[in-house]
Amino acid sequence: MSTQAPPAPTVGDRKKTTTLSLRRKKQGGQVISMLTAYDYPTALAMDQAGVDVILVGDSLGMVVLGYPNTLSVTMEDMLHHCKAVARGAQYALLVGDMPFMSYQVTPQEALRNAGRFLQEAGMDAVKLEGGSQRLEAISAIISAGIPVMGHLGLTPQSIHQLGGYRPQARNGNAAQRLLEEALMLQEAGCFSLVLESIPSRLAEYISKRLEIPTIGIGAGPGCDGQVLVTHDLLGLFERFTPRFVKKYAHLHTEMARAFSTYIAEVEAHAFPAQEHTVDMPDNEWQTFLEKIRDKG
Ligand code: KIV
Repeated sequence: MSTQAPPAPTVGDRKKTTTLSLRRKKQGGQVISMLTAYDYPTALAMDQAGVDVILVGDSLGMVVLGYPNTLSVTMEDMLHHCKAVARGAQYALLVGDMPFMSYQVTPQEALRNAGRFLQEAGMDAVKLEGGSQRLEAISAIISAGIPVMGHLGLTPQSIHQLGGYRPQARNGNAAQRLLEEALMLQEAGCFSLVLESIPSRLAEYISKRLEIPTIGIGAGPGCDGQVLVTHDLLGLFERFTPRFVKKYAHLHTEMARAFSTYIAEVEAHAFPAQEHTVDMPDNEWQTFLEKIRDKG
């Protein structure tokens, strides 16, 4: 039997990203790009732009559904949005984020829920938060052939335990624990690891120690890849902006401008104009008038 991995499936002349191609990018020193998406048009646009990985993050709860944190997000919410993203993206590796309480109770429940992301919602992999306490769940999921992305550092589903959205692993002991957890996740078979809001020099050290690619958010340039929440990047989420976000657009302001212009034009009878209306030939209009006159 050949030990060579089969080639990645091709779509046109661009290849679909796989867990294997991500590993190869790391080995070749190429940086990985990842973004979040929650709907069809956004997934379509970022897939066409060439992003490597699309994460349907449970940040959905905050930036789309308006909850104060991610804890209220359900499996049904996640599957609904994953399905929309899967319809829009052909090339990126699609990762579904397992919501709070979908993987913490038993490894069996974790496996059952992880399976739904692939079987029902068109995802290629799942992500879940946490280290040593999640090893059994991670092993159960991986043993069924489902790729798992880990997530360490600031893990928003533990917001109440962490005491707020604050940087993690800033002292020597915590940094050593985080490195050990990263090695455990690699050993358990995770194909990649998100490092959120940890010191840049620690993220760089861990990235060099691991064979699997790290994807950083607020973890500096030394990671193997970067991820941002798309609503932050686009300037669509104005409630707060973490220090590590760079805004590449200001769409909230742009949307507000478009909505007020629309309202003003409707009130001024400037919209709809002639070009936005449907014509009816004069003879047909005459026929209509005669018909209603005949009917009295
Ligand atoms: O839910 C999410 O969007 C995430 C990213 C911030 C990594 O977990």
